[in-house]
Amino acid sequence: MSSSESWRGLGMVKETYTSRPAHDLKLEGIREKETYTSRLDCILDKNELSKEGIVFLLKLDRREHLGRLFKKADEVREEYIGEDVYVRGVLEFSNYCRNDCLYCGIRKSNLKLRRYRIKPEEIVGIAKNAVSSLGFRTVLLQSGEDGYYTTEVVEDMIKRILEKCDCRVALSIGERTVEEYKRFYDAGARRCLVRFETSNKKLFEKLHPKSSQTKNSFGRRVKLIKRLGKIGYQVGTGFMVGLPGQSIEDLAGDILMYDRLKANMAGTGPFICHPDTPLACSNNGSFEMSLKVIAVTRIACKDIFISATTALQSLNNANGRELALQAGANLLMPNITPKKYRMLYQLYPNKACVYENPFDCANCVKKVVETVGRTIGRGYGDAIRK
Ligand code: 5AD
Ligand code: FES
Repeated sequence: MSSSESWRGLGMVKETYTSRPAHDLKLEGIREKETYTSRLDCILDKNELSKEGIVFLLKLDRREHLGRLFKKADEVREEYIGEDVYVRGVLEFSNYCRNDCLYCGIRKSNLKLRRYRIKPEEIVGIAKNAVSSLGFRTVLLQSGEDGYYTTEVVEDMIKRILEKCDCRVALSIGERTVEEYKRFYDAGARRCLVRFETSNKKLFEKLHPKSSQTKNSFGRRVKLIKRLGKIGYQVGTGFMVGLPGQSIEDLAGDILMYDRLKANMAGTGPFICHPDTPLACSNNGSFEMSLKVIAVTRIACKDIFISATTALQSLNNANGRELALQAGANLLMPNITPKKYRMLYQLYPNKACVYENPFDCANCVKKVVETVGRTIGRGYGDAIRK
């Protein structure tokens, strides 16, 4: 059976939480409305959120209630993080991937995609330009899981970037061994981004098929993320909103994972279905739910860094990032990949900034930050959360 057939067999191809919450429909009369509103107040006033409280918040759908949620998240952001928005330049240096994640446009089985690898010298040059000319203080090296860049090559790139530039180097290169990540840390990398994608183990394993080259398992992923923190990395992780078969309870579990994994940074974006993957016929995740997830993450995790992701921007290019920054987010991750490669790094279709160059994106993020009346953080933007 092909992976797409077995996927359909599970009968999990619709988002299960788009309808109005059942208890909301049951509410009748002013009394019930008052009870509902006081429950909202009560949840928002508590210092800790329970799973039930998170589910309640994620089910909010009336304009005035959503307004309260986003306002509260913005207040928590102001109190714990302040006005600075930190900016990380993302360099997508290779779209080769040994993995076959069912949702991802650069999965190994997508034979329609032209693959590219940027040479290490060019990577170092792009990073140098991003730091010295465009003013970025973090360079995030991102790629598919590509063994072409051996431990020594990655190590050497990190060292060369740090010799030339006053910046932090962050890695988003997928699963590597703990020993390799230790060597990258010794070479100077200080941040790492490995998403757990979903806290629902069954769903994770459905979405990440095992192969002779990849031993994908939820347990392995979670263990790696925890080990990265022990090595000393500031750890970023996250999940997708609106994966086929994901429930609201799963999303609540996802948010609670941030504390369980001692994450410093949260990256959450909507799932966007790619036509050349087994999930081609699914629905996209919702923009509004992604925004609610950001707000609830801020209220639950207080001082964690939260990014307004490219996927969120891709669903609402007009003001998606602005809305995210006003609902709890404090990080932006503009693209510093040369224009000629961008089209080929489409994890999902209609990805934002495919026709722009690094200079455009650097200017664009300044405008976004200005629009919401905040400031760009001038330092490295290291995690507050220890
Ligand atoms: N829609 C949204 N996000 C995606 N990612 C991969 N494919 C998609 C998609 N179709 C996200 C995953 C991955 C990150 C680099 O991009 O969460 O970890
Ligand atoms: Fe790329 Fe706006 S961030 S053009």
